[in-house]
Amino acid sequence: MGANNNSKSHLGFIHTFIPSYSDRTDDNSLNLLLLHGTGGDENDLISVARMLEITNASILSPRGKVLENGMPRFFRRLAEGIFDIEDLRFRTNELADFVQKASKTYTFNLNRTMAIGYSNGANIAASILLLRPEILSGAILFRPMIPLVPHTLPNLSSKRVLISAGLHDPIVPKYQTEDLFHLLKKAEAKVSIQWQNSGHELTQIDIKAAKDWVTTSLW
Ligand code: MLT
Repeated sequence: MGANNNSKSHLGFIHTFIPSYSDRTDDNSLNLLLLHGTGGDENDLISVARMLEITNASILSPRGKVLENGMPRFFRRLAEGIFDIEDLRFRTNELADFVQKASKTYTFNLNRTMAIGYSNGANIAASILLLRPEILSGAILFRPMIPLVPHTLPNLSSKRVLISAGLHDPIVPKYQTEDLFHLLKKAEAKVSIQWQNSGHELTQIDIKAAKDWVTTSLW
């Protein structure tokens, strides 16, 4: 790990920004916000984003600032699956503010910004949807849990969300994924859930499911 040549450290987060192949920023251009899992970094999900073959998409990929035994995360936890909610709220706003500033610096549209998060990254993406929905137009959440229940439920009727969950996930109990699904549904998000015959790890089937979902529901 460590900042690679493409990583930058201004705007408050170590991050990578990759402009879209096409330099046209039109109504169809999309920005992908990549959010890695515990122990990962800003490089981890770039190949996953590429595999989705979304043309005309730029990529913003920050590194989580919280260290757990040296492993980057996006917020503090007290134990596996038990979150420090105060820190989660603080980190969600901090990350949302970063994305907002980055949208001005790199010129991308928040109404066309989709998060792709894995595990801890999926959890903070869900938290952004619930606490700062103006930052995202949608999200692909690989192996998420319910991060928190907000005091007031936002209206997420303009958001599209895919949850890709593992049937045999030892870290995320099935009810956690289902609770998140129902919460997003209650907030009127266009949310779908797909169960993979796998554990917590990301598989080719997840990528295929995400790719199909992008093709059918994004355009
Ligand atoms: C979390 O802490 O966000 C979840 O337990 C997932 C993980 O990072 O292992």
